[in-house]
Amino acid sequence: MLKIPGLIDPHVHIREPGATHKEDWDTATAAALAGGITMLLAMPNTNPAIFDASTLELALAAAKAKAHCDYAQFIGAGPGNAEVAAQLAPRAAGLKMYLDSTFGELRLDDMSLWKPHFEKYPKNLPLVVHSESRSMAAAILFAAIYDRPVHIAHISLKEEVLLIKAAKEHGLKVTCEVCPQHLFLTKDDIPSFSGGHPGRGEVRPRLGSKEDVDALWANLDVIDCFASDHAPHTLEEKDSDEPPPGFPGVETTLALLLTAVHEARLTIDQIIEKMHTNPKRIFRLPEQPETWVEVDEQATYEIHAVDMQSRCGWTPFEGRQVKGRVTRVVLRGKDVFKDGKLLVEKGFGRNVR
Ligand code: NCD
Ligand code: ZN
Repeated sequence: MLKIPGLIDPHVHIREPGATHKEDWDTATAAALAGGITMLLAMPNTNPAIFDASTLELALAAAKAKAHCDYAQFIGAGPGNAEVAAQLAPRAAGLKMYLDSTFGELRLDDMSLWKPHFEKYPKNLPLVVHSESRSMAAAILFAAIYDRPVHIAHISLKEEVLLIKAAKEHGLKVTCEVCPQHLFLTKDDIPSFSGGHPGRGEVRPRLGSKEDVDALWANLDVIDCFASDHAPHTLEEKDSDEPPPGFPGVETTLALLLTAVHEARLTIDQIIEKMHTNPKRIFRLPEQPETWVEVDEQATYEIHAVDMQSRCGWTPFEGRQVKGRVTRVVLRGKDVFKDGKLLVEKGFGRNVR
């Protein structure tokens, strides 16, 4: 039996308010605990998007009523809310900036819209950017010009990890995360897991080539965090004519990583560093007292969506064999998950901001 600290997932899409048929604060945080995650940071691309005091209130009220694990809520950067977002910063997980197109309506196309956010958002609190390829380079340039830290969400490409490596060597305040789908799947895997429904392979950033995946593994020391980018959509939506991008993942991330430990591609210490120590530091998150996760490292099983807490009902890892199962989660002294069962009521989770 292995005992590790409570894990932190800094990138989760909860879907409440607005799309609770995909997921809500109840199911997302239950899924998190089942996956060994005791604290998560919720993304703002809900409906409505979280971008001011009243929408933040909306998300936090739902979270307070329903969350099983601890959490904080991101604010989204819009064209006119830099001042308001900066004022709300102490109550938010951080500011999320969408610099490339994805699910939702929070995209900032024009670089002149980025400037007020880089200037005004408090420098001691996290600014997270969805920025791929050359927009990632532009985001790093902004961080350098405005002399503030920036966290790059879900890197997926060789060119990205190499540029972040160079930026870090140059002393720039840049950190980054990588998601399981970009470590364990390539675009060539889409036909086999999508079962003739190409929409199931849609995710942003898109799945990379084998060369990209190999580069991420070869540069794990450049990667600060593992994050799920849990982005649940129903199978019906994924199989429709306009499939929304996104994979669920909060429940399967740890099992996939533990399997990589078993295969000697990763160490437990790297998991703890990238899912506890580093996110806690980067996002300035508090310690969770009397909180830990117990794992049966020898347990072998197949991933199946039917066994999961998430409402979305599918996973790109369906049928995959993994080794390492979460057997018990203790959060602030309470048994919250044990032997496959959720043991905690809605509302136990606390807002860590
Ligand atoms: C995310 C979603 O569905 O909200 N989709 C995705 O493909 N990752 C949005 C995002 O994180 O880009
Ligand atoms: Zn996301």
